[in-house]
Amino acid sequence: MSKMTTKKTAISASVIKRLPRYYRFIGELIKQGTVRISSGELAERMSLTASQIRQDLNCFGGFGQQGYGYNLIDLQSEIGKILGVKQGHKTVLIGAGNLGHAIAAHMNFSEYGCDLIGIFDIDKEKIGGKASGLEIMPVSEMESFFARENPKIAILCIPKTAAQELADKLVLLGIKAFWNFSHYDIKISHKDVVVENVHLGDSIMMLSYALTNSEKKPVKAAEK
Ligand code: NAI
Repeated sequence: MSKMTTKKTAISASVIKRLPRYYRFIGELIKQGTVRISSGELAERMSLTASQIRQDLNCFGGFGQQGYGYNLIDLQSEIGKILGVKQGHKTVLIGAGNLGHAIAAHMNFSEYGCDLIGIFDIDKEKIGGKASGLEIMPVSEMESFFARENPKIAILCIPKTAAQELADKLVLLGIKAFWNFSHYDIKISHKDVVVENVHLGDSIMMLSYALTNSEKKPVKAAEK
């Protein structure tokens, strides 16, 4: 099989958005013991078309082989490199309430290229307690912690009223990426800071839309 080489050309944002789903599906197939797969089989499992899969994977190497299909370990490793899943980006979580605890406890950060190293809150009752084995620290300690550890990703699990002010402060402390659950779409003017605003409600609303307009199907994540 030809050696995989990542093309130097920029990969489009819509393809990048599909990469985590490819990575997850391929990981599951590897766990089941599958070694290789055709674009047709992968398409069927992922509810995509074979040509869509070939087009997407062509963006970073086009390394499937006629009559052989894709070698899953190679494919996952290549997609993993693009997604940076081995990077261990230092990550902090702010707001150790219900959602913060759930995320800290149930997300396997290392699988996604992140390393949760600090959790902060303003509530005296919570400070000193633990979440996911880490001691919850007061926000007053953020500055010294950030100077020492230099985290790059912040997960915001705080009320929406606090989100923008805190985000601005975190940018000054060196945060380059926000995973924002606060239900307020924070605005960051720095070009090199990325924000992923997460609203679980948007996802369930797709179901509501489909039921309300019963002939319509919800838009699949892969089609977005
Ligand atoms: P919670 O009240 O249990 O936790 C919020 C925590 O943030 C508390 O521990 C509080 O002390 C802390 N906090 C408040 N201001 C802070 C600040 N300036 N700095 C540091 N910590 C601060 O609330 P819960 O249920 O955990 O929800 C958290 C947020 O997530 C809310 O805004 C909620 O609306 C939102 N949410 C978003 C979802 C989504 O899909 N994006 C889903 C569920 C909740």
